[in-house]
Amino acid sequence: MSTGHPELVATIASEIAASGPIPFVRFMELALYHPRFGYYMRAPEQTPERIGWRGDFYTSSDVHPILGQALAKQADQMDQLLGYPEQVTVVEMGPGKGLLARHFLSACQRDYPSFFQRLRYVLLERSPAMRKLQRDNLSPWLDQPDLLTWVDDLTALAPRTVTGLFFSNELVDSFPVHRIQVTAQGLEELSVDYRDGRFVECVMPLSSDALAHHLRGLTADWPVGYRTEVNLHASNWMERVAQRLNRGFVLTIDYGHTQQDFYRSDRKGGTFLCYSRQSVSENPFVRVGEQDMTAHVDFSSLAATGDKHGLQTTGFTNQMSFLMGLGVEQMLAKLEQDSPEFKAAIHLLRPHGMGTTFKVLIQHRGIQQPELDGLRYKPFFQSVLTAQSAA
Ligand SMILES: C[S@@+](CC[C@H](N)C(=O)[O-])C[C@H]1O[C@@H](n2cnc3c(N)ncnc32)[C@H](O)[C@@H]1O
Repeated sequence: MSTGHPELVATIASEIAASGPIPFVRFMELALYHPRFGYYMRAPEQTPERIGWRGDFYTSSDVHPILGQALAKQADQMDQLLGYPEQVTVVEMGPGKGLLARHFLSACQRDYPSFFQRLRYVLLERSPAMRKLQRDNLSPWLDQPDLLTWVDDLTALAPRTVTGLFFSNELVDSFPVHRIQVTAQGLEELSVDYRDGRFVECVMPLSSDALAHHLRGLTADWPVGYRTEVNLHASNWMERVAQRLNRGFVLTIDYGHTQQDFYRSDRKGGTFLCYSRQSVSENPFVRVGEQDMTAHVDFSSLAATGDKHGLQTTGFTNQMSFLMGLGVEQMLAKLEQDSPEFKAAIHLLRPHGMGTTFKVLIQHRGIQQPELDGLRYKPFFQSVLTAQSAA
């Protein structure tokens, strides 16, 4: 099986030759986001489709527009709670191909005209290649420069300037993670070496104080051999989002768990996975730069970081309950029962699938105890989330 994209493999191998084995987090950063050869960074015409039914993996927006429609309904209610500001900003972070944005904007234009008139939609995307795909999918609105803006980093938004909503779907799981292994020496970090033309795994002491500090907060009782991940980028990202929100909400959708569940002692292999052509593997050392890599999200840590930087947790639920709270039943009633479209929409609600694997965290700032339809059915109580994050 191929080791991966030749120039990328050579680039990572030469970094290892110069500095010795690199922490896994650095390997994942290069594999996914090397500016020229990374998985998400190569121009669409230089690479097979990444996201979609013919790609390596699909997301909710490939399944059915119903998530974008529900998000539009939720954003309209948030606009009302904010008192209909003159301009309301929605920042979508990590928009992928831009399908969710297309579904969201279509629903806003059709169903929520007052909100749509005052809307400024910012797409925050680090990859120029993904930005191109987003432009293609958002062509109906490209002639409205006041509506759509692209930025490549949160630093493009000044502190406390956004009144509205920051949201993401499957962004946080795509951040590079530190991988930890419990050995006879204690907690060590999975690292990557290059020998005889192949990447190989090795363990090294923890690579940073920040990582050691984060691990001390986890108070977990893990057996030797236990593996897990720490997503320090996620905390850093949440801190920077919180700093930019003036008044409004942060809504994060992703697969993940509360901290207690994420770091259970029986979850021995961690949550790290690779996706290629709709199949899953645990091997990051093949198809490097040609497969996606991902790890589940520790939502308690996101909530705790938000709390520390001026956000309050509005609630935590799963995708099924979120969609039900926003009236998915009425949306489904308009579709012909058992039609392919109906079945696709149901896929997003499956209790043993996307409906519960995907979680929704909502945080707010500058609004008194907002009540949101998306949180009407809360299967997780806030205390479950915050009890862990206090650690
Ligand atoms: C898995 S895809 C998201 C899929 C998409 N949201 C959807 O609903 O189909 C991850 C996206 O996040 C982008 N991304 C990853 N890290 C980022 C960062 N730090 N800032 C902005 N975009 C990022 C990737 O380039 C990619 O477009």
